[in-house]
Amino acid sequence: MHRELCRRGAWLLPLVLAACDGPQSALAPAGHEAEAVSQLFWWMAGASLVLWVLVVGLSFYASRRRERPWPARRAARLILVCGALLPTLLLAALLVFGLRLMPELRAPGDGLRVEVEGQQFWWRVRYVLPDGRRFETANEVRLPVGQRTEFLLTAQDVIHSFWIPSLGGKMDAIPGTTNRLVLEPTQTGRFRGACAEFCGASHALMAMSVEVMEPEAFTAWVERESGAATASTDGGAALFLARGCGACHTVRGTAAAGRVGPDLTHLGARPTIAAGILPNSPENIDRFIRETQAIKPAARMPSFGMLPPAESAAIATWLGSLR
Ligand code: CUA
Repeated sequence: MHRELCRRGAWLLPLVLAACDGPQSALAPAGHEAEAVSQLFWWMAGASLVLWVLVVGLSFYASRRRERPWPARRAARLILVCGALLPTLLLAALLVFGLRLMPELRAPGDGLRVEVEGQQFWWRVRYVLPDGRRFETANEVRLPVGQRTEFLLTAQDVIHSFWIPSLGGKMDAIPGTTNRLVLEPTQTGRFRGACAEFCGASHALMAMSVEVMEPEAFTAWVERESGAATASTDGGAALFLARGCGACHTVRGTAAAGRVGPDLTHLGARPTIAAGILPNSPENIDRFIRETQAIKPAARMPSFGMLPPAESAAIATWLGSLR
């Protein structure tokens, strides 16, 4: 029986360990704050393991030994030392260790500010540059490596939680208040962020793509991203406006200036669409336009399956060309 259980457990081990890596793991840190989280996790897990082995070992030992009852005073002393003193010292040590790892909540950033607003079910992302310039994007966060970026988090409707596990701990985005989080990535690369607070039917479909870049590449991205869209003004552009998409979405450089849905100005340059859940391609954009409610239940955007297929395909092609 035991051997059988162990064999099954061994099969699961690679699966468990596989979860320690990848673009969305707090145990594969790529940022200053995430390193503290992972350090705390391993120390806590290690200390718990030692304690567990100790307690289980002692109880096995006790259950197999025949001994006369202890005198009351000796038993009381054992309970005091092992039941009160030892756990208090151990937990106090772990608490002090954990508190020392906590990020300095008031520490300033290096000048770049990102205002993030949780929506049902996507992220409005507003960059405020050190020189005061602002621009908006959605479901995509890009950061310069080695710099402390300040995030100001809020939400429009219900509580969401902003979490990029590879870069740092999570922080709630709450309607009516602004929470602050500072992240300092230490490695370049692509990561994934997620909403970590149940916020409705599509909570699990509310992610974001994260890219940490070299400072020069980041500056180049900011220059492109803050400008208007560069795209052809083909049939798709006219259809986008004629079918009313611009009432909810903004595409800078066109007449579309809606504020309800995500800004689509540079949609074609984003790695994913629909808040990090589909790879970016004209086919997927078309699918999302036609089957919105099937792909993202309870989203504010209705499905536009009533559009003639040629029209939604033209709109999708145009959106995919927005750089
Ligand atoms: Cu937003 Cu869960």
